[in-house]
Amino acid sequence: MRKINIAIDGHSSCGKSTLAKVIAEKFNYIYIDTGAMYRAVALYFMQNDILQNGIIELTKVATALNHIEVSFCYNSKTNKSETLLNGQNVENEIRGMQVSENVSKVSQLKEVRSKLVSLQQILGKEKGVVMDGRDIGTVVFPDAELKIFLTALPEIRIKRRYNELQSKGIKVSLEEVSKNINERDFNDQHRTENPLKKAPDAIEIDNSNLSLEEQNKMVLNLVQEKISE
Ligand code: DC
Repeated sequence: MRKINIAIDGHSSCGKSTLAKVIAEKFNYIYIDTGAMYRAVALYFMQNDILQNGIIELTKVATALNHIEVSFCYNSKTNKSETLLNGQNVENEIRGMQVSENVSKVSQLKEVRSKLVSLQQILGKEKGVVMDGRDIGTVVFPDAELKIFLTALPEIRIKRRYNELQSKGIKVSLEEVSKNINERDFNDQHRTENPLKKAPDAIEIDNSNLSLEEQNKMVLNLVQEKISE
């Protein structure tokens, strides 16, 4: 069976990473969460006073990027891949509201995107990768053999994200989550650099009314068909 690259794009909190992990496990593929990479860069900018009070010191961005290394490690206790920023595990910090509120400002910068897109392309060079994000099927792997564009109604995505944060013990109101998701949707779709859009050859799946099992079955069949071609 041939090895392919699988691109999963879509709006914030529509279950892209959950789906990508299911595919990776089933087919023994490498899962790469590109949102985590943008989040790690945002965290570095926040920690190093390049991003303060929502404003980025643009003159410092290029130099800062030379000092940032984003990688992943496997946590055998949780069975999950975790994000490292310059060798330090930042998996928890990058998921919090502070980073969520600032990440769109960082992900719209051309220099940031170009650095992370190159890194993502290297990671997928040997194929056998499932990558989720906003521009994977359009920019990172325009020739990916399978492209999924996942979406769900905003109110459903907000509720799912709220429940996820609650389950992690992160204190946040439904209104805050709603504001954050609406803002990120808007920024992702309207930025100049690589905005979120469906690749013409992507298969769109709206999972608002699908159970996880239904969605996974549908996508695993699509993958199976592609790798058997
Ligand atoms: O998938 P996520 O919510 O963890 O992504 C965090 C932010 O990074 C999100 O607001 C959009 C941005 N992002 C992006 O611009 N391009 C990607 N390939 C992945 C994420």
